[in-house]
Amino acid sequence: MDNYSKYMKTCFRLARRAEGKTSPNPLVGCIVLDKNGVKISEGYHKKYGENHAERDALLKLDKDAAVDGTLIVNLEPCNHYGKTPPCTDLIIERKLKRVVISSFDTNPVASGGIKKLEKVGIEVIQGVLEEEGNELNEVFFTNISKKRPFIALKTATTIDGKISTSSGDSKWITSEKARKYARKLRKKYDAILTSSSTVIADNPEMKHKTKIIIDRHLKCDLSSQIFKNGNIYIFTQKVPPEVNEYPNIKFIQKDKITIDFILEELFKRKIMSVFVEAGGKLLGSFVKEGYADKIYQFIAPKITNDNSSKSAFDGDNISLIAQSKEFKLVDTKKLYPDVLLTYKQP
Ligand SMILES: NC(=O)c1ccc[n+]([C@@H]2O[C@H](COP(=O)([O-])OP(=O)(O)OC[C@H]3O[C@@H](n4cnc5c(N)ncnc54)[C@H](OP(=O)(O)O)[C@@H]3O)[C@@H](O)[C@H]2O)c1
Repeated sequence: MDNYSKYMKTCFRLARRAEGKTSPNPLVGCIVLDKNGVKISEGYHKKYGENHAERDALLKLDKDAAVDGTLIVNLEPCNHYGKTPPCTDLIIERKLKRVVISSFDTNPVASGGIKKLEKVGIEVIQGVLEEEGNELNEVFFTNISKKRPFIALKTATTIDGKISTSSGDSKWITSEKARKYARKLRKKYDAILTSSSTVIADNPEMKHKTKIIIDRHLKCDLSSQIFKNGNIYIFTQKVPPEVNEYPNIKFIQKDKITIDFILEELFKRKIMSVFVEAGGKLLGSFVKEGYADKIYQFIAPKITNDNSSKSAFDGDNISLIAQSKEFKLVDTKKLYPDVLLTYKQP
C-alpha cells in the first residue's frame, strides 16, 4: 500500500469516530504532512455545525507549519460558506503544496473545491481509495443523489429465514451478543422506524433519539415502552387525539400513508438515515418499493422447520426465482453463535 492510501485509511478511521453525529453532513477525516512528508496534524468533523476536518487539522498548527506540505482528506474540500468558511480558503492561506482526496463532493452547493485549488497551483491527487471513501459516506451520497433518507433494514432470523413462529413468539432468536451489536448499529442512524404490529407484538423499547412509528389506524397503546423516550413521529391516517399528553410524540396525518410520503416527510425534517426494525410485512414493503439501500441480517443457528412461521421479508407474490430482488453481500461478521450478513443494492 502506498503512503497516501495508508494515510487515507487513517482519515477513514478518524472520520468514523463521529458516526451518528455529523448528519446531515458527511464523515470526514484529515491528515497533514509537512514539507518533508512527516505527519504533523490530524483532525475530523466531529459534529454538525462544528469545524470541518481540514479546518480542525490545520488550526492545530502554527501558521507556517504546513507550508509546502500535503493535506490528505477523504472528501473534496468544500468551497462554500456554510456554518464555517470554505476549507479551500484556509488550505490556500496555509500554502499547502498538495491535496490528496478520496471522494468527490457531489453536493452542488459545496463542490468546486478541486478546481479552486488547482487554479492557484496546488497539486490535487484524486480518487485515492475512492470506493472505500464513497462507502464511508453512503448516507451522504444517497441523500444527494436520491433526495431521500438512506434506508437500512435490520432483521434477526433463524437459518430458515424466520422472525417468529406463527403464534408470534420471537424472543429471542439471536444471542445477547448479536442484539448488543444491533443496538450499536442503530446509533449510526438518525432514526429508527418500526410498525404498529411490532410495537403491539413485542412491546420493545428500541432506545433512540428519534423514533418513527407507522400506525395508520392508531392501534398502539401510547403507554407502550417505545413511547417512553426519544422524539417520536407517528404516521397515521386517523385524526390524532385532540389532547396529546405526550410532549415527545408528534402525529403526522394524511388520508393515505405511503412509504414515499414517509420518506419525503423525514427528509424535509433532515432525518437523513433510517434503521428499519420491523417484521416481514413492513420490511417486505421497503424491498418491494426499492428502498432497501442496506440489509443487516443476523442469523441464529436455529431452524423453526415450519413454513407457517413468519418470514423476514413478506411483501410480494412471485412465481419465478428470476423475479426475486437481488442484493450484493458486502460484509460478514461472526457474532458467535450467530452471524451478521450485510447486503447492499448491486
Ligand atoms: N426478528 C426480527 O428481527 C423482528 C423484528 C421486528 C419484529 N419481529 C416480529 O415480526 C412480527 C410482526 O411482523 P408483521 O409482518 O406482522 O408486521 P410488520 O412487518 O412489523 O408491520 C406490518 C405493518 O406495517 C405497516 N405497513 C406495512 N407495509 C406498509 C406500507 N407499504 N405502507 C405503510 N405501512 C405499511 C402496517 O401497519 P398499520 O396498518 O398499522 O399502519 C402493517 O400492518 C412480530 O411477531 C414481531 O415479533 C421480528
